[in-house]
Amino acid sequence: MVYIAPSLLAADFSALDREVAKIKQADMLHIDIMDGHFVPNISFGPGVVAALRDKTRLLFDVHLMLEHPMPYIAPFRKAGADVITFHVECKDDPEELIAAIRSSGAQAGAAVSPGTPASAIGDWGRHLRQTTVMTVNPGFGGQKLMLDPLRKIFQLKYRFPHLLVEVDGGVNLETAPLCKAAGADILVAGTSVFQAEDPYLEMRCLAL
Ligand code: DX5
Ligand code: ZN
Repeated sequence: MVYIAPSLLAADFSALDREVAKIKQADMLHIDIMDGHFVPNISFGPGVVAALRDKTRLLFDVHLMLEHPMPYIAPFRKAGADVITFHVECKDDPEELIAAIRSSGAQAGAAVSPGTPASAIGDWGRHLRQTTVMTVNPGFGGQKLMLDPLRKIFQLKYRFPHLLVEVDGGVNLETAPLCKAAGADILVAGTSVFQAEDPYLEMRCLAL
């Protein structure tokens, strides 16, 4: 059983409400937040997330690609985030971030970029709901999945059996079976779902 999380980054930004309606059978909506510092791109702010909150009942899986996520936890929670994920490579303290996320009422996640070892998730990993194994360098959709990071799924699950492990970047019909075989619980899929002729069928096939 794998959960499918379409990434809003690949949606048509001029009609986000219609785009979100196309994927209402998904398990969650993955929302990439970029600050132009941690990654060389800028995406959505809390206002966009809040505007979508009453358009869908999907769980909001908010992926913060921010150098300093701390000041943005409360605003994104208020905007409707259910899961808030920070990067282990960011400049804020992971334990303080987890405490802030949990006390906001959201669940916490931590993401590791392709070049970062799974061991960068310290013992504090036991307080997380999920970890995100990035299979592309964060910043842009539509990139090719790197196979090497998939080994981190096993390493993380071995240390933290309760964790849900999400794979993010380059997931499509060709690469999804590899992610599932490596033990992924959640597949983020942007381009593959939103550019598909039939996003529902694409999600069903990704989950097979
Ligand atoms: C990359 C983002 C991904 C991205 C995935 O920085 O974190 O979530 O949107 O897009 P695809 O599925 O197109 O690789
Ligand atoms: Zn993402």
